[in-house]
Amino acid sequence: MTTHAAPASTTSHPHALDFARAWDYSPAPETAKITIAPRYGLFINGQFTNPPNTFETINPATEETLSEVSLASAKDVDRAVAAARAAFPKWAALPGVERAKYLFRIARRIQERSRELAILETMDGGKPIKESRDVDLPLVAQHFFYYAGWADKLRYAFPSSSFAPVGVCAQIIPWNFPLMMAAWKIAPALACGNTVILKPAETTPLTALRLAEIFQEIGLPPGVVNIVTGDGSTGAALANHKDIDKIAFTGSTDVGKRLAKVAAQRAIPITLELGGKSANIIFDDAPIDQAVEGIVSAIYFNQGHVCCAGSRLLVQEGVVDEVIAKLRIRLQSLRVGDPLDKNTDVGAINSKMQFDKINEYLKIGADEGATLEQPNACTLPKKGFFCRPTFFTGVQQSHRIAREEIFGPVLAVMTFRTPDEAISKGNNTPYGLSAGVWTSKGSKIFETAGKLKAGVVWCNTFNQFDASSPFGGYKESGFGREGGLHGLRPYVRL
Ligand code: NAI
Ligand code: MG
Repeated sequence: MTTHAAPASTTSHPHALDFARAWDYSPAPETAKITIAPRYGLFINGQFTNPPNTFETINPATEETLSEVSLASAKDVDRAVAAARAAFPKWAALPGVERAKYLFRIARRIQERSRELAILETMDGGKPIKESRDVDLPLVAQHFFYYAGWADKLRYAFPSSSFAPVGVCAQIIPWNFPLMMAAWKIAPALACGNTVILKPAETTPLTALRLAEIFQEIGLPPGVVNIVTGDGSTGAALANHKDIDKIAFTGSTDVGKRLAKVAAQRAIPITLELGGKSANIIFDDAPIDQAVEGIVSAIYFNQGHVCCAGSRLLVQEGVVDEVIAKLRIRLQSLRVGDPLDKNTDVGAINSKMQFDKINEYLKIGADEGATLEQPNACTLPKKGFFCRPTFFTGVQQSHRIAREEIFGPVLAVMTFRTPDEAISKGNNTPYGLSAGVWTSKGSKIFETAGKLKAGVVWCNTFNQFDASSPFGGYKESGFGREGGLHGLRPYVRL
């Protein structure tokens, strides 16, 4: 990737070396070739079907069509639900130790095929290969391993209760972590003896279909997991189906609220993991260099397509100039471009729709009077959807860019004076998925983290995940937890 010298606005800083040039590597594209079929059917009852209606999924970094996948109709969904229903009694009755064996096999096969899966995840969704390879895939395998470990130990998870699986689970997932969201949903469901119909997002269906191949390879009994690709209409048909026993959804708050109504009317359980506008709080006693690195992983990681992204930066007044100056320098050296290049830090925005939404917010922020900065000077590819890492200063809490989820590499920077002000500003949002706290004082960490209304609070780090750690939101970020012991609870009746 070739780069320009940093723009004039950023060279005035004394440390503003020409980082973009200093880091000008040769391209290092991933060279392994993977095969993608021209068309994919649905995965129902252990078989791939071949229905007539298809839609294209593209590579958002090149705008080229990768494949055509099936648009499942209500009838197709009906068949998938029937398959899951038929498979349920036998799967539920299987001893936990037997279900565990299947989950272990899935986990191992994911590890064996991880390079191929990582490349496909990057091609279909636009995330940098170093993230899909080093973050997503290891976590996907870890999730299956982790819940395989629970499958025969459920009586220790729910001591002194008798428990049973919930039944047939409708699971609808988004495009930001396609395989990871599939793993978060499928692994605990199967461990507890449920059967599943999974609906991947329309822009990133391909890796879920490879997962279906893995289910075939390891001999998972037919119907235990069914995968129906499609759009919102497919998701709606699944969520409204009369023979499902549970809904699990990750995605937008709007759709989540609609599904909550559906579940309420039918009196079936639902777990929701929705949007966020998480605060990343930097106190003046924080290790600033590390905090700047933390900002990068909080909001520029995965192009900001992260529900728990630290999209509001709250900096204590005394250090705001230093933080901004260092952030500016850091953003110069981030490499934006070809997601298949191993040096790329920021890949492609997932879809045209999301790209337009982000650009709309860049305009809204400027119109609201905030100051936009994009210090990065990479030459962006001519095709594809790319957005430079962006931050806004001069942001008011009332600005839309400080209140609404943008879901892109766009940070709103605000300041505070006292710890109380940091907490009240941090909590001043309808969401509550995550938060970050940066300080060198342990007592301040506990005090602040305890008062933040967020499901996860990262201290002197950001965006760290582990299968054993529960994840989920407060307020409009949803309810229910995924991961850890807590992640089993939505999949059993006590
Ligand atoms: P979305 O909520 O429409 O899509 C998520 C999933 O729900 C997809 O599989 C989709 O096909 C399905 N779906 C859509 N309409 C449905 C319906 N009526 N019934 C059942 N399923 C339905 O999210 P979208 O439109 O892709 O993104 C819009 C915004 O949502 C983003 O800009 C972002 O702010 C937020 N979002 C949040 C995510 C999170 O992880 N919390 C993930 C993706 C998006
Ligand atoms: Mg795609």
